[in-house]
Amino acid sequence: MQTKAAILWEVNKPWAVEDIELDDPKEGEVMVKLAASGLCHSDEHLVTGDLPFELPIIGGHEGAGVVTKVGPGVSWLEEGDHVVFGFIPSCGRCPSCSTGHQNLCDLGAIMAAGLQASDMTSRHHAANGEDLKLMCMLGTFAHDTVVNEASCIKIEKDVPLSRACLLGCGVVTGWGSSVYAAEVQPGDVVAVVGVGGIGANAIQGAKLAGAKQIWAIDPVESKREKAMEFGATHTAASMEEAVEPIGAASWGTMANKVVMTMGVGSGELLA
Ligand SMILES: NC(=O)c1ccc[n+]([C@@H]2O[C@H](COP(=O)([O-])OP(=O)(O)OC[C@H]3O[C@@H](n4cnc5c(N)ncnc54)[C@H](O)[C@@H]3O)[C@@H](O)[C@H]2O)c1
Ligand SMILES: [Zn+2]
Ligand SMILES: [Zn+2]
Repeated sequence: MQTKAAILWEVNKPWAVEDIELDDPKEGEVMVKLAASGLCHSDEHLVTGDLPFELPIIGGHEGAGVVTKVGPGVSWLEEGDHVVFGFIPSCGRCPSCSTGHQNLCDLGAIMAAGLQASDMTSRHHAANGEDLKLMCMLGTFAHDTVVNEASCIKIEKDVPLSRACLLGCGVVTGWGSSVYAAEVQPGDVVAVVGVGGIGANAIQGAKLAGAKQIWAIDPVESKREKAMEFGATHTAASMEEAVEPIGAASWGTMANKVVMTMGVGSGELLA
């Protein structure tokens, strides 16, 4: 079928919205009509080349939509089901999935190739006939896509798809960075550097994990204001500006946990 997608043909060039040819789903795959897609900063890293993926690629890895076709062998999804995509596939059967580490699913090893896991070919083709790769095996910057069933999570039909799509990357990554990676504990002093999609959710995770102080550090004033609504207790415009007040408010012990979500870092040390 014909559909539309936003394609990155070259690094540092704008996304090109073009008609594409989309094949039917093969073994273990489904076709999904997207209702909503988020724009995560990782998609921007594709454009700048900070995140090197195979090109040409259809961007987008935060999506939710409705299943329109089901490929052979898919037993648990049917036409009309609502799904949110996971930006890392989870097969449920490999050693990592079966021991509760779905984020390390074996299928994730081929994610950067941007091809279908079933046979390492493309279902998406540009108007000039060239095969298109998919960001995180999804390509949500499109009206329709074909993905592996391992990338789908079935959700209730009354969950608004425009909100559900954010669960595909921003919410789980941000929440997980505070709750699981940093293991925020009740009473912790937490600093979140960068309050975009990931940082806002890191703040919510830190709050629900019981942090005593949550410092939201971002140069953009509206982000700092929003951070207070998400559960931050203090704000600062930069790490330099945050050092002294965090010291004063923590009796000199500083932050127990620091979650860095500001994008590309330079690795400089503060004096
Ligand atoms: N590893 C993963 O699984 C994963 C998943 C999602 C996103 N990411 C990465 O996380 C990063 C953040 O993504 P996002 O979608 O939240 O981006 P975003 O653009 O929504 O937010 C970044 C925020 O950082 C702020 N910022 C920029 N420079 C800063 C500085 N020097 N100090 C403090 N704040 C600063 C910006 O004002 C912005 O609010 C990106 O690098 C993205 O690729 C990683
Ligand atoms: Zn992302
Ligand atoms: Zn797996």
